[in-house]
Amino acid sequence: MNIAIMGAMPEEIEPLLDYYGKYETIEYAKNNFYLVDYKGHRLVIAYSKIGKVYATITALTMIKKFKCQKLLFSGVAGAISDDLGIGDLTVATKLSQHDLDITAFGHPYGFVPEGSVYEESNGELIGFAKEIAEQKGIKLKESIIATGDQFICDQDKKEWIGKTFKASAVEMEGAAVALTCNAVGIPFFILRSISDAADMDASFDFDEFLKSSSKRSADFMISMVEKIIDNAK
Ligand code: ADE
Repeated sequence: MNIAIMGAMPEEIEPLLDYYGKYETIEYAKNNFYLVDYKGHRLVIAYSKIGKVYATITALTMIKKFKCQKLLFSGVAGAISDDLGIGDLTVATKLSQHDLDITAFGHPYGFVPEGSVYEESNGELIGFAKEIAEQKGIKLKESIIATGDQFICDQDKKEWIGKTFKASAVEMEGAAVALTCNAVGIPFFILRSISDAADMDASFDFDEFLKSSSKRSADFMISMVEKIIDNAK
């Protein structure tokens, strides 16, 4: 099986490259893809760069060019819910684009005709994650995640996103990856570790916790890969 593991920033995939160690680098569409042969399977690791457009290009490249049959996303997010603290892990149950707005035509936020407000995640992969969390005694939350091409660092905006989308966390790629995968029928799993609270301290906290939170997410993702491979036997 070919399994994609993507992040948005170098820090989000570096712990994975360090862990798997040996990889081949292929350049395509102005990005690097790191190919790992692992236990008879192929892992394709890449960071997309920040935002929905870059994330879409990378996700579709991993699926179509590198023939990935499952896609895992590992990275950081800002907390909207007070239940999520720095370093906490949350999986996306469904995702929405908070900056998609044609409400002028009577549509809800996050909706365009022939689309849907939310993209649903794959239940089986979330099930695997819950089993891992239970076995390892790791606290794993489940969240609706809101995605947009904005770094949220404002209390009012954060509350608006939380209220409008019932979202517990915010980031800048997840819904794009989800939409891409669902469009072509590829199961995906989006995991985020909290780096900040999307408030006035967010940019400071993000810089402070990007590396440690990325590592937490990546460490969990390594167990996910193991579980997926075991399950494919
Ligand atoms: N990713 C991590 N923190 C974020 C924030 N506050 N806004 C958007 N994306 C983020």
